[in-house]
Amino acid sequence: MSIVLPKSHSHPRGDIPKEPPAHFRAMANFDLKQIMEIETSAYVFPWTEGILRDCMRVGYRCRVLEIEGQVEAYGILSITLDEAHILNLCVKPASHGQGLAHRMLDHLLDLARINAVKTIFLEVRPSNPRAMRLYQRAGFAEVGLRKDYYPAKVGREDALVMAKEL
Ligand SMILES: CC(C)(COP(=O)(O)OP(=O)(O)OC[C@H]1O[C@@H](n2cnc3c(N)ncnc32)[C@H](O)[C@@H]1OP(=O)(O)O)[C@@H](O)C(=O)NCCC(=O)NCCS
Repeated sequence: MSIVLPKSHSHPRGDIPKEPPAHFRAMANFDLKQIMEIETSAYVFPWTEGILRDCMRVGYRCRVLEIEGQVEAYGILSITLDEAHILNLCVKPASHGQGLAHRMLDHLLDLARINAVKTIFLEVRPSNPRAMRLYQRAGFAEVGLRKDYYPAKVGREDALVMAKEL
């Protein structure tokens, strides 16, 4: 006679993952189509494909977070001696609010740490409270302001410079 277990206990180790596995890997040229779709839907002033290609070419750490073969988020980090700069961190709009930005940020911070980075910087628009909250929660603090740094719908927008000691 076979024993039929209730559905919730049917896995031998009872450890069925709740979410599909996500993994981080280096960005590649074949990702650019998906990344440009995300970039142009997530930003009012998106980077061009050429900028992304250049980031890979010059050796910035260009990372993607992939779930079931789809790029869900990406991040770009430049490292110079013991300083690093987060140049881009973006999550596919349909996947916002699921903690993916936190995961990508943690991944970039780990990459910086294993490369002996002491201070990590980034710029953020004051009009982007989601991003500011993400960075504040991760321990970044405001250290300066770059006047008229970003293009804006009308004129230019300042950038807040944030930094974190690792
Ligand atoms: C900013 C961005 C990266 C956040 O991505 P995300 O995956 O939605 O963020 P997470 O789910 O990891 O949450 C990060 C924080 O964002 C905030 N947030 C996420 N979804 C939100 C929503 N729908 N409404 C308001 N705040 C939200 C939360 O406060 C969260 O902080 P918490 O720890 O207090 O919950 C994403 O909105 C994005 O890609 N925006 C366009 C690109 C961009 O602006 N990048 C930053 C450039 S500096």
